[in-house]
Amino acid sequence: MNAPLPVEVLKQHLIDPEICIRCNTCEETCPVDAITHDSNNYVVDPEICNGCMACVPPCPTGSIDNWRLVVRAEAYSVQDQLGWEELPGEKVLPADTAAEPVLLAPADASVPGVAAAPVASGASVPPWSAAHPYVNLYTHKTPVTATVVGNYRVTGADTESDIHHIVLDFGEQPFPVLEGQSIGILPPGTDAQGRPHYARQYSLASPRDGERAGYNNLSLTVKRVTQDHGGAAAHGVCSNYLCDLARNDTVQVIGPFGHTFLMPNHPRANLIMICTGTGSAPMRAMTERSRRLLGTGDIGKLMLFFGARTERELPYFGPLMKLPRDFIDINLALSREAGQPKRYVQDLIRERAADVRDLLADRNTCIYVCGLKGMEVGVLDALQDVVVQSGKDWSILHEALRREGRLHFETY
Ligand code: A2P
Repeated sequence: MNAPLPVEVLKQHLIDPEICIRCNTCEETCPVDAITHDSNNYVVDPEICNGCMACVPPCPTGSIDNWRLVVRAEAYSVQDQLGWEELPGEKVLPADTAAEPVLLAPADASVPGVAAAPVASGASVPPWSAAHPYVNLYTHKTPVTATVVGNYRVTGADTESDIHHIVLDFGEQPFPVLEGQSIGILPPGTDAQGRPHYARQYSLASPRDGERAGYNNLSLTVKRVTQDHGGAAAHGVCSNYLCDLARNDTVQVIGPFGHTFLMPNHPRANLIMICTGTGSAPMRAMTERSRRLLGTGDIGKLMLFFGARTERELPYFGPLMKLPRDFIDINLALSREAGQPKRYVQDLIRERAADVRDLLADRNTCIYVCGLKGMEVGVLDALQDVVVQSGKDWSILHEALRREGRLHFETY
């Protein structure tokens, strides 16, 4: 007589809606398109996820790294997860379960229409010498209140790009951060469904020891959103809230987030920084960190490629141009400056091929790319051209840059 088959237990991959900051990193990373979202949640399709873990290291909050043992027939569906406001607890499993839980779709399962996993562009580890970051000290349930101590526009008043530099002070409350990390802002009010708005993520524009050295404050670079990606009129909930804040207003903050887009901490490390628009925030943080170390003999080379429509729409243009030329090598790519040809950061990388190549050849060089999603491919192509021109193999170098935590992307 045959014994009944044991009930199959599955290790189901879930995303914690209370910690997730809806940054889309997981959905972009998932090689089998198992992650999807609606206006409420990011969720994992149990029919597709193969537990490959590609999405886990890049997640800035760790909300992606949640698992529940469930009976296969009772796995949480995408519809279940989209309605969640918190993760369910562990289920009590029946006694006759199979000894070993399995992933919902075996790693080698062929999912129709799904291509092989692409190689991620950037590293999923920090540079070896990066300082240890703190993450998730404050969550949606336990936000910290910060006070606005500064809010001013850093682009020309007559331009379309309304970009603000906003300084938040945390008073006596601990809020340790590193350059390259981000925080979440909880805008007040509710969404169309009457639920509290979820947090919006902003990169820090100030270094670890504060916007003002020795103060428990930090800064953000925020562009007022008035259009969607297609150019249609749209009102950015959080960006408009932040840009309209006055001194002494208070803000609910969660985070910090991010454990890979961090600067090297060892002496004479070089930085290649490539950004557009508000993607300049982490570059400002890293540059200011380096500037404060001037005179110690610890600073390596800094090379900046910065893209904006015009000089007047380039955030921090004035202070940037005052930095000493022997401290930072500044390359501005202006795309809509009257009387000048349209230029993107990748054009300038090609123009500066010899210097970029020399820096790339030095294992003390780390590369950071932050800004518009579209530039990711363009920058990678430009770096590849620069390397190939000198007779080197880009795929070998690219792999080393990723493995050694020396090439980082943050695009949106
Ligand atoms: P463009 O004038 O073609 O829009 P924004 O002001 O919209 O934040 O953009 C910042 C800069 O990034 C602008 O100069 C913009 O040029 C440029 N940009 C747009 N798309 C790309 C891309 N694919 N690669 C590099 N730069 C880009």
